Amino acid sequence: MPLQSLVLQALQQRRDRLAQQHPGPVMLWSGRAVSRNFPANVYPFRANSHFLYFAGLSLANAAIHLEGGQLTLFMDDPTPEAALWHGPAPSREAIAAEIGANAAYPYGHAERYRQAAATLPAQNSIERDRSLALVEALVALRLHHDTAALEQIKAAAAVSVLAHQAGMAATPKAKTEAQVRAAMEQVIMAHDMTCAYNSIVTVHGEVLHNEQYHHTLAPNDLLLADVGAEAPSGWASDITRTWPVSGRFTPAQREIYTVVLAAHDACIAAAKPGIEYRDLHLLACRTLAQGLVELGLLQGQPDSLVERDVHALFFPHGVGHLLGLDVHDMEDLGDVAGYAPGRQRSDRFGLKFLRLDRPLAANMVVTIEPGFYQVPGILAPARQSGLYDDAVNWERLEAFREVRGIRIEDDVQITATGCTVLTAALPTQVEAIETLASAA
Ligand code: GLY
Ligand code: MN
Ligand code: MN
Repeated sequence: MPLQSLVLQALQQRRDRLAQQHPGPVMLWSGRAVSRNFPANVYPFRANSHFLYFAGLSLANAAIHLEGGQLTLFMDDPTPEAALWHGPAPSREAIAAEIGANAAYPYGHAERYRQAAATLPAQNSIERDRSLALVEALVALRLHHDTAALEQIKAAAAVSVLAHQAGMAATPKAKTEAQVRAAMEQVIMAHDMTCAYNSIVTVHGEVLHNEQYHHTLAPNDLLLADVGAEAPSGWASDITRTWPVSGRFTPAQREIYTVVLAAHDACIAAAKPGIEYRDLHLLACRTLAQGLVELGLLQGQPDSLVERDVHALFFPHGVGHLLGLDVHDMEDLGDVAGYAPGRQRSDRFGLKFLRLDRPLAANMVVTIEPGFYQVPGILAPARQSGLYDDAVNWERLEAFREVRGIRIEDDVQITATGCTVLTAALPTQVEAIETLASAA
């Protein structure tokens, strides 16, 4: 689909803003398709996100040179052989015109321009060959989304909402996690989108990045689905819902779900420009601790439980991350995007997986995703150590054995005065989830 004029305007504005942030020449590479065992069978190609941010099209084997707001494209014309296998493709000149390039040359010419330019490797540029000044300029731009980006994130989020509704609706008849995953991903595929990351659809939500789908569904299971669509333009979304396979939460599941939801809602109510994301994380931790104290699972003052990282036995990850062209946006740059200058990750158990430690500002998009997990590898040694016997009621915890993993995740745009939940069309309340998950 040709790029619309509004997108072209946004691309030009991004190029102009880069020139202000980083006046020298910049070279960015799209990357190439990675083959799966033999050359003709490749993994689905997706261009490097920094390239995509300025070029607008997910072109393979291409590079762009940016300077003073001008873009030069380097890519080869399609060969006749490529046309035989892949069909007719636009020429370099046609693509250059489509993305508003000021000049276009064969890919081989890029080498000449590379010498003088600041650049980044196409993948995982945490340590290798990178210009720190360029990294900082890219972060300054990509932290706050323009209207064109926000529209695309909203489009992806809308499809993710439909996918989750389809997953809940498919559950009464589904026998396995795989069948629910299929119902969800088919919605994304039918909208000509892709998954922004490997879907998690599991009755073992305590395995945080569980990418297996073979378990059968039992009536007392909770199903945790972390599934997000990516628009063809590359912009991502990221939603998690947790619902009962039977369509009704058991009392124990409902109690813990309500605690996680309170943490989720508290963070969203507090999200606004100027607030530290780390403070939202700590708010989620305190709200969880408070709820678990009320359920008799923890004992003590929520504040001191959080200071001792007792909550982290059940909520070991951070409350979320930046969202943009990548689902964990700009994590290819390490913590430079997630952590404000001068800040570093804590080695405290309750903070070391915090991916974002910056004050929030208008048009940042972040996820809010508190959870509760019973991870045997965390809880068994903690119990055995005796260190938490004053804080955790281990006997009472037995009554909640069937609650293995719950996460509730939404995508949140910070606005001038507060925030907008971009995924709000998908309910989070117990009754609404039960209704969606039991409708045949
Ligand atoms: N979908 C990965 C995450 O929520 O961070
Ligand atoms: Mn997430
Ligand atoms: Mn997620």
